[in-house]
Amino acid sequence: MTDKELFQAAVEAASNSYSKYSSFRVGAALLCDDGRVFTGCNIENASYSLTNCAERTAVFKAVSDGCNSFTAIAVAGSADGDYSAPCIPCGACLQVLSEFCGDGFSIILADGSYTLYDFLPRRFTL
Ligand code: THU
Repeated sequence: MTDKELFQAAVEAASNSYSKYSSFRVGAALLCDDGRVFTGCNIENASYSLTNCAERTAVFKAVSDGCNSFTAIAVAGSADGDYSAPCIPCGACLQVLSEFCGDGFSIILADGSYTLYDFLPRRFTL
């Protein structure tokens, strides 16, 4: 699976976004070490703080299906259907990813490929 294919899977996942409050659609596609891909979208709630981001939806789907070893995640976000601007994962999603992924984990955005370390050089641990 190429970076471009994984990013396209994230764009397609955004079509399921439940974002009636922000109108900002986000999709994520998480590549597991065994080759499986889990997708996720943002799921908003009338009680705003209960919103779940696309990245965490993908991680939770994967882990609950028995996969917790990951190679890369692609993230696509847009308010108008144009996914060409980078949608950088929020801090909460970075912390959740850091539970399972090392510094070299790839984060693929509209403008290129980054590592988890690029966005979260230090992480909370117990
Ligand atoms: N959102 C994500 O899905 N991922 C992020 O990393 C940041 C923000 C969603 C949450 C909310 O539904 C919308 O984007 C606007 O904040």
